[in-house]
Amino acid sequence: MARSGRTVRRNDPLLYEVFADQWWQPRGIFAMLHWLAAARGALVPTAPRTGAVLVDLGCGAGLLAPHVAGKGYRHIGVDTSHTALRQAAGHGVQPVVGDVLAVPLPDECADCVVAGEILEHVTDLRTAVAEACRLLRSGGLLVLDTLAATALCRVLAIGIAERLPGMAVPGVHDPALLVDRDVLIAEAARHGVALTLRGVRPSLLDLLAWTAGRRGNVRMLPIRTTAVLFQGVGRKKGAKPLSPFPITDPAAPAAALDPESLRW
Ligand SMILES: C[S@@+](CC[C@H](N)C(=O)[O-])C[C@H]1O[C@@H](n2cnc3c(N)ncnc32)[C@H](O)[C@@H]1O
Repeated sequence: MARSGRTVRRNDPLLYEVFADQWWQPRGIFAMLHWLAAARGALVPTAPRTGAVLVDLGCGAGLLAPHVAGKGYRHIGVDTSHTALRQAAGHGVQPVVGDVLAVPLPDECADCVVAGEILEHVTDLRTAVAEACRLLRSGGLLVLDTLAATALCRVLAIGIAERLPGMAVPGVHDPALLVDRDVLIAEAARHGVALTLRGVRPSLLDLLAWTAGRRGNVRMLPIRTTAVLFQGVGRKKGAKPLSPFPITDPAAPAAALDPESLRW
């Protein structure tokens, strides 16, 4: 990679160590993750009850934190990168070292599970979706954003975006891991979560202003096609659906979590 002089393969976890100092740079190589985190945070409702838990899968350095702060959740972040988790902890995220394919948290511990820009990085989409759904309580909300397994996405999100400053880190995406939307929807449904997808793209005017240094961020706008970058939202059905997030049983999520699993 040009910046470090080191070579990393596509989707190499080393990338997050090499560029660890870039996470919280609003004009750094992870800039677009900031814009996506803002759009993702807007999909997270206010916590349903005292002690409600939000599990942030592949949380990185916790860029979602400012966008859900004040919504009333205990924000737990799961990631394989210690350096990223350390930064996330500095932003109020309770860090858990773990693989999103085998999350070290109990079933139904979360009122909200967020999977932002992680599904396109895992080698087993079905297992990652099953894990996300397993963590959700009945009536809980799954919020995600990711990249679609299409030729258009390979051209735009990998071929082009990786050449534009701030849009995507060179080498971050492996075309073979882009997300098959049918598999995503079917797997979530199999685990009781009916997902609705919508496409998003950066505002082009904002992007121009940001590039010229006249804006600090770029808004993500909804679009009709989900063929490139898309968000997903779905609520888990169950015997006792919470509709939508009523205030009940405030002690349950905290009691359900094993404190041992939160050490790192
Ligand atoms: C593109 S970043 C997204 C970070 C964060 N969700 C955000 O939007 O700012 C992907 C993150 O997923 C983590 N990651 C990749 N594969 C993982 C896995 N199998 N289990 C847990 N974390 C993983 C990486 O360490 C990295 O922090």
